Amino acid sequence: MKKMKKDFFKDSSVKFPAYEPWISNDDKRIVNAALDQTMLTFGPQLEKFESDFSKYTKAKYAIAVSNCTAALHLSLKALGIKEKDEVIIPDLTFVADANAILACNAKPVIVDINKNDFFLSISNLKKNITKKTKAIIPVHIYGQVCNIDEVLDIARTNNLKVVEDCAHAIGTFHKSKHVGTIGNTGCFSFYPTKNITTAEGGMVITNSKNIADKVRQLRSHGMLKSLKSRYTGGYPWVFDIVEPGYNYRLDEIRCALGISQLRRVAKINKMRKTAVSYYHSKLQNIPGIILPDLVSDKTHSYHLYTIRVTKSFGMSRNQLFKKLKQAGIRTTVYWMPIHKFTAYNKYVKKSNIKTTSKIYDEILSLPLFPNISKRHQDAVINCIKSLKNN
Ligand SMILES: Cc1ncc(COP(=O)(O)O)c(C=O)c1O
Repeated sequence: MKKMKKDFFKDSSVKFPAYEPWISNDDKRIVNAALDQTMLTFGPQLEKFESDFSKYTKAKYAIAVSNCTAALHLSLKALGIKEKDEVIIPDLTFVADANAILACNAKPVIVDINKNDFFLSISNLKKNITKKTKAIIPVHIYGQVCNIDEVLDIARTNNLKVVEDCAHAIGTFHKSKHVGTIGNTGCFSFYPTKNITTAEGGMVITNSKNIADKVRQLRSHGMLKSLKSRYTGGYPWVFDIVEPGYNYRLDEIRCALGISQLRRVAKINKMRKTAVSYYHSKLQNIPGIILPDLVSDKTHSYHLYTIRVTKSFGMSRNQLFKKLKQAGIRTTVYWMPIHKFTAYNKYVKKSNIKTTSKIYDEILSLPLFPNISKRHQDAVINCIKSLKNN
């Protein structure tokens, strides 16, 4: 039997974790080699990671940054989002979207989601567009391509920018385009639970040279010259800053890991798909359990498998969570909606959050990672089934 990685939280009752990272021997070799370089940041691994990523997504430009939150922040900055502007986000997303908007001193406008696919509700989106609205951040939630065509139509009609949140969606395509290349920019996360990881890390992709140049500058303090160009001509310490930026760089060690992980993204997503298909076939027809709508594999990266626990299951989502926990199975909820947080509550209109409030009480994401075993999945499946039968 495969040895389980140690539980960091020292919870010895966890027999079946929600997630395990997959760091291969190749990953370790390439990271070790990067540690021998003279440049530990802004070197050849960064150049290669960005070039591999733009080849994979067929985006003209890829700019690696320290995490997806930084990618979102820099995208909004590069698109000119500023104080008093409004940016629309779905209520069911990670707080990073709201934080990136607030980091531009702009206002997040939180809108409702659809009941079945959890995408941003188009009717609610339309109702919330004002003169101050400047951008929309649609989220390819759980790895599935969202209603991006409709969002784009509305954006065109109202002259709005679109920043795609692709944190879950490496390997997700829409009509043969990789997500992130449809709107003005796409933002990816390489956080440990994501389909590929650099521990912490992110990427902005875009087809616009102006946006790419701006993101690249702001990523490194706003410097108008790259490190390479400073050291290959003139005086390295002479460079100008017109607009102050941030230190959102991704170091060489993380870029090396990203290169290696990206090489097997197709394999990773295929393994995830196999695990998802197994859950999907075994969890059919359990009264009260609603399974996610799975579409064709091209349009999904299978990042999360999220079920809904409804009244006829005979037990609430929280009760099911507790029962699974007692059986040593760790599950979680993605996410507590934005409207529930103290920091964002003042941006919420009650009429905008009806569906999210209901859905939030029902969702539960089951353990999922590329190397998950049948034994692990069977434990989850059998536990859910046995609870229904009691
Ligand atoms: C949908 C979504 N957007 C953005 C982020 C932020 O990513 P990062 O942790 O890389 O900043 C996450 C992270 O979990 C996410 O799930």
